[in-house]
Amino acid sequence: MKIKLISTLFIGGLLFSTIYGNAQKAVLEVDASKTITKIQPTMFGLFFEDINFAADGGLYAEMIKNRSFEFEKPLMGWEQPKSNRSSMNKESGMALPINVAANNTNFCRVEINNDKGYALINEGFRGMGVKKDARYNLSFKAANHKGAIRKIIFQLIDKDQKALGETSVVPKSDEWTNYSAQFVATETEAKAKLKITFEGTGTIDLDMISLFPEDTWKNRKNGLRKDLVQLLYDVKPGFLRFPGGCIVEGRTLSDRYQWKKSIGNVEDRKTMMNRWNVEFNHKLTPDYFQSFGLGFFEYFQLSEDIGAEPLPILSCGMACQYNTGELASIDELDPYVKDALDLIEFANGAVTTAWGKVRSDMGHPKPFNLKYIGVGNEQWGADYIERYKVFEKAIKAKYPNIIIVSGSGPSPDGEHFDYAMNELKKLNAELVDEHYYQSPKWFRENAGRYDNYDRKGPKIFAGEYAAQSVSGANPNNRNNWECAFSEAAFMTGLERNAEVVQLTSYAPLMAHEDAWQWTPDMIWFNNLQSYGSANYYVQQLFSTNKGTDLLSITQDGKALIGQHNLYASAVKDVNSKEIIVKLVNTASTASDISIDLKGAKLGSKGSLIRLVSANLQDENTFADPKKITPKQSEYKITKGNQQLNLPPYSITVLKLKTI
Ligand code: AHR
Repeated sequence: MKIKLISTLFIGGLLFSTIYGNAQKAVLEVDASKTITKIQPTMFGLFFEDINFAADGGLYAEMIKNRSFEFEKPLMGWEQPKSNRSSMNKESGMALPINVAANNTNFCRVEINNDKGYALINEGFRGMGVKKDARYNLSFKAANHKGAIRKIIFQLIDKDQKALGETSVVPKSDEWTNYSAQFVATETEAKAKLKITFEGTGTIDLDMISLFPEDTWKNRKNGLRKDLVQLLYDVKPGFLRFPGGCIVEGRTLSDRYQWKKSIGNVEDRKTMMNRWNVEFNHKLTPDYFQSFGLGFFEYFQLSEDIGAEPLPILSCGMACQYNTGELASIDELDPYVKDALDLIEFANGAVTTAWGKVRSDMGHPKPFNLKYIGVGNEQWGADYIERYKVFEKAIKAKYPNIIIVSGSGPSPDGEHFDYAMNELKKLNAELVDEHYYQSPKWFRENAGRYDNYDRKGPKIFAGEYAAQSVSGANPNNRNNWECAFSEAAFMTGLERNAEVVQLTSYAPLMAHEDAWQWTPDMIWFNNLQSYGSANYYVQQLFSTNKGTDLLSITQDGKALIGQHNLYASAVKDVNSKEIIVKLVNTASTASDISIDLKGAKLGSKGSLIRLVSANLQDENTFADPKKITPKQSEYKITKGNQQLNLPPYSITVLKLKTI
């Protein structure tokens, strides 16, 4: 099926409207002679938030939930099938010499009498994923009163209590002492648990019981889950935004994200409730807490590992306006501003500075080269602008080269958005964060959103977006193909407007199959597997083919923003010497197109990458994780125009070598 084009012709001075019908192809003109603007290396990045068990239970590879007994219910995550004699104790009032961490004062006291079969079992994050023959590193603290307990036995068990690996430790001291041991798993199991039993009778105190796979990203001890970081790495992201999202703001100011509490010794990082724990009544996750094992140092390190610019977002003294909206008054803003200034020193300061030394002591003497900082997440109204001004003044006074990200609120239009944009323009804001969680149709209809944005106004950070198949944050939303190709159609508009749009990221990034609160999400995982959604592959296609210079691509002098259901953008890559054309056909029928490329000498070879699926509802799943993935083939460059057939519901990336 061909596109029907209506064209107006002058023949003999008369105007005719002619329907060309099936024989006529859309002719797209690419002008390679002129660079419209440079594409920022940051153009396509990642948004990370600890939502959907993305950090604890996800990227942070710790397998023990509530390892230091600091959850609101201190034994949450732990079972004692044959007894209830374990008790929670606080540091104060202990007779023993103790060295439990200052911020995490709970520990578990186990009293073993003459009974047999007492066990303490940790359920993990909806189970623990263990792999046959893989090694697991166990560590814990214990104080063995009067040396009463002769041995502690640790077993990985399956649902039938069958042991899948075992190790034991002799607790030698009645003072708090660190112990470690290793397991090898004898089978693969997604829902394993850790069972602890004891030999001897008496009392023993336990704390920071921790279990990590040995095989982590870059083999860092107690590090990050390798498969998940690999998925991030494979996007070749331009930046990593962290730690959110609403988690930055907190439901109240006291539970806002405070980066200083997320660094230093892991056991000193104070556990606190994750705000997504209680956010949605339809998706309560009472066992969702933040250990901060993945904290700001690790976020910076992760950014470095995956080649992304770090982009931290900080509280601006306003709690989430969907919740309490609690405000720090302008007089009370100092500590918030100081947190921002100190963070820049932590990231970039010489090792001789106070915070630079903290970074160095944590193992990274070299600066992280922070260039961006975000003030507030999704705030709105005059209260935000007032606070933003205070931050801007202080940050620019001390660090004039740091680029400040400001926010335009939760919606891409409406009163709050217009007010924020207007005010931020007056303030010459550098980079404004826009969020859109809208229907796939909205994405298709808004591919021209930035065409008329003021080229001299603030640059745009499309910081959170995702097509919602049902409605915003609806639990029935799916990562389906219609959402993914509609995002691609919209992204051609982001790319075409690279003069204005300089950073973009899909949100949220990750979700645990059994513990999510928000859908859709770019990456899905369980305790053993992970996969990229179709939306992930859209992001990856754009990011890995972003090129270096923006070119114009038009049909009859106009940008393609959905005429005949076609969307397009074009770039050149001066390093690989390629012209890269992205084409999205959102129609249920195929389109034949012709590309007329001017201003470049083409070689003979190119490649064609295609992401396509037959049905709007198609999606990648754990059972079929590669159902919708890009397929690359050779493309033979022809003389004259390049002729292409774009299948129904398809994304095509055409890469043409130049000489
Ligand atoms: O991405 C999920 C949430 O959506 C973010 O936390 C918030 O910024 C937005 O409302």
